Amino acid sequence: MSNPVQKNKEYKKFIVDSRLQYFKPHATRIEKTFAEEISSSLGRNLKSIPPKFFYDKKGSDLFEKICSVLEYYPTRTEISILQKLKTELSLFLDGDFRLVELGSGSSTKTRLLLDFLTASQKTTEYFPIDISEILAESSEELLNDYKNLSITGIIDTYEGGLEFLKTYDDKKNLIIFLGSSFGNFSPVDGYKFLEKIFSTMKPGDLFLIGLDLVKDTSILESAYNDSKGITAKFNLNVLSRINDELDADFNLENFSHYAVYNEKDQRIEMYLKSLTEQSVIISKSDLELKLQKDELIHTEYSHKYRLSQIHDLLDDVGFELKHTWLDDKKYFSLTLVSKN
Ligand code: TRP
Repeated sequence: MSNPVQKNKEYKKFIVDSRLQYFKPHATRIEKTFAEEISSSLGRNLKSIPPKFFYDKKGSDLFEKICSVLEYYPTRTEISILQKLKTELSLFLDGDFRLVELGSGSSTKTRLLLDFLTASQKTTEYFPIDISEILAESSEELLNDYKNLSITGIIDTYEGGLEFLKTYDDKKNLIIFLGSSFGNFSPVDGYKFLEKIFSTMKPGDLFLIGLDLVKDTSILESAYNDSKGITAKFNLNVLSRINDELDADFNLENFSHYAVYNEKDQRIEMYLKSLTEQSVIISKSDLELKLQKDELIHTEYSHKYRLSQIHDLLDDVGFELKHTWLDDKKYFSLTLVSKN
């Protein structure tokens, strides 16, 4: 369930210096707490843990590490495509663009686009949208490295940030959504999300989306079962987080990471598998969790796409297709669309 639409949400502006500011909504949204969400997602018959809870400090650090393990090809492949795209993007940009990023991203990818924009524009604005307090250190480095850059962070959900941007000003936006994060949505939620992006774009705005492509099952499964076990640690870390923050007694040794490709639904499915029959107390969620041996707790989906599906999807939402860039092995795609 998505949050009810909030009209005229109030944002508070924080000015850090002449080139760095951020906006944060007044705390008006009624959000379920971590304890409540865990209570409902683990209290069901088919148990799950919402993947947004992966990203505490430790989880975020582990995810950074996943991005550079040998088997996890998406990050380096997308970077290689961005390097190529850098020189070709100018063909599609008429005039100056602000860079808007959904998620504050890995600065390597952001920088590839900023290299290009700051070199070809007198000044460039960068708007990361993220729910976590963004860019404390990295913004300082970015501002140091790009003298004609200014940064405006929007600390909100992607939907909230996009709504904010819609009425912000008349400047043209290049919105980027990288890392195949879109693939972590269910198809229904993903479609709604694209409609949201489309509805908040102005004519002339551009949207660049990075999506992972269907390929051999063995390559896909290795990417989510790296031999160093970093993905396993990342997946299991959410249980430590529940232990720490919700007073639970998960014994991590009684669980294993399990990731498998579902060919029919074109997605990697990620689970935590209970290795024994066990019961776990989650005090703050008021839950006694009973698990069978081999029972699965679902944590994440990562959908994979065929090029024709990407094009149909974007076309159905109403976007105009500008270009798709691929790597040599056709492992990953970056697609640029506009709203006319
Ligand atoms: N968007 C990334 C992907 O689907 C996220 C991701 C990579 C991920 N590895 C993961 C999420 C492991 C959970 C667990 O590829």
